[in-house]
Amino acid sequence: MPRELVLGIDFGSSTTIAGALVGDRIELVQDNGGSVIPSIAFVPDRGGLEVGHRAAARQWTDPSRVVRSVKRLLGLPSSSELVRRYAAGVPFQVDLTSDKPVLKLAQSIAPEQIAAAILAHVRDLAEKRFGLTPKRAVITLSADAPHGYREAITKAARIAHLEVLDLVAEPIAGTLALDLHMQSAHRRVVVCDFGGGTFDVSAVLQEGLRFRPVAVYGDHFLGGNDLDDVMAEAIAAIVYRNSRYDLHRDVVRWNELVLRCESAKRQISSGTSAPLVMRDAYLHAGVRKDLRLTLEGPWAEATWHAKLARTADVVGELLRRAGWRPQDVDVVGLIGGSSMIPAFRRQMSSLFGVGRVTLADAPELAVAQGATLLTARFQKVSDRIPTLVQQMHR
Ligand SMILES: Nc1ncnc2c1ncn2[C@@H]1O[C@H](COP(=O)(O)OP(=O)(O)OP(=O)(O)O)[C@@H](O)[C@H]1O
Ligand SMILES: [Mg+2]
Repeated sequence: MPRELVLGIDFGSSTTIAGALVGDRIELVQDNGGSVIPSIAFVPDRGGLEVGHRAAARQWTDPSRVVRSVKRLLGLPSSSELVRRYAAGVPFQVDLTSDKPVLKLAQSIAPEQIAAAILAHVRDLAEKRFGLTPKRAVITLSADAPHGYREAITKAARIAHLEVLDLVAEPIAGTLALDLHMQSAHRRVVVCDFGGGTFDVSAVLQEGLRFRPVAVYGDHFLGGNDLDDVMAEAIAAIVYRNSRYDLHRDVVRWNELVLRCESAKRQISSGTSAPLVMRDAYLHAGVRKDLRLTLEGPWAEATWHAKLARTADVVGELLRRAGWRPQDVDVVGLIGGSSMIPAFRRQMSSLFGVGRVTLADAPELAVAQGATLLTARFQKVSDRIPTLVQQMHR
C-alpha cells in the first residue's frame, strides 16, 4: 500500500471511474459492486446532493430532479450553443441570464457544484477501498475541452478537497490502456472514444515511447445516449402507428423507456436479442396496455444507422485535419463504453481495414486505467511504471 494515495480519475459525462496504483497494479474504486460510478446527481428539496448509483436509481421515479451529463456544461458560458442545446434537452430550467449557466431545480446549482459532489463521492469511495484519504489526483479531460474547462474542473476538485496534479487528455490516457507504450515504435495511432455523450477522436503520433496528439476532433452530441434516444423514438413511432398514443406525453414513462432501451442495447451488443417490457405504457382504445417487445440486433442497428454513419464522418474529418489517409494509420484503438457495439466496430473496420482496429480490453475503463498509470509520475511506486510514464509527453 502506498504512503500517499493519488487518484487517477476519468470524470465522464455518463460515468466516472477512478483508480489508484497499488504496487504496480491498477486498482479501481468500487461502488455498488462495480467500478463504474454514474455521473449523475439527484437534487433534493434541501440539503446535500445524492450522487452515483443512488442518484441513478432516482431517474426511474423522479427524472425531473436528476442532473446528468454535467460535464457538457463545465467551463462554458451561458452564451455557448452547447449550453443552449443542453438546456433545451433537460426537464428542468437552466438559467442563462448570467455569464455562467445555473441549474434551477429545488435548489439553484452551478455545474461545478455537481461535479464537486461527484468527485467528493469518488474520494469517499477511495477512502473506503484503500483505507487512506486521497488528497491529490490526475484527472482526464476531453482533448478538445472548452477553454474554461480546466479551471472549472480544478475548482470542482478543490471543493471536493482534491488537488489536481495534472489534467491529461483522455485519448492519451486511453493510449496507455491499449498497451501501446509497451513497445517502442513509430506509429500513427487513431484513438476513437465513443462514450455516453460524445464521440472524441484523436490522431496521435507515437515516437518511440512518446505520444503526441497531432489532431483532435469530436462531436459533443454523439454518444450512447443518442443511440438510446433513437431506439426509443423508433418504438414510440410503432406505438403511435398502432394506437395513436404518443409515448412522449408522460415524462416519467418516456424516461423509463429510454432507460430500458439502454439496457436492451447492452444486451444486443453481446449478440443476443433483448426483451423490452414496460408495464402500463400506453392507452389503446381507452385501455392501459403493457409494452412487450423483443428487440433484435438488426432492428436496433437500423435505428442507429444515421448516428453510426456520423461516426465515420467524424473520423474522416479527423484524418483530413491530421493529413493522414486511412491506409497511413497503423493502429486504431477503440475505447469508451459505446465501442462495445459490434456495428460501430464494423464501421471502423470498414474504414481502416479489420487488421488495424483494436478494442480495449475494458473499453469503459480504459481512460481511468491510463489516468491511474499516470499517477506514477507523482509518487514512488514500482520501477517499471515510472520509466514509461516519465517518457510520456502530453
Ligand atoms: N456493453 C455495452 N454495449 C453498448 N453500449 C454500452 C455498453 N456498455 C456501456 N455502454 C454505453 O457506453 C456509454 C458510456 O460510456 P463511457 O463510460 O465511456 O462514457 P463517458 O466517458 O461517461 O462519456 P463521455 O466520454 O461522452 O464523456 C453509455 O451510453 C452506455 O450505454
Ligand atoms: Mg469518456
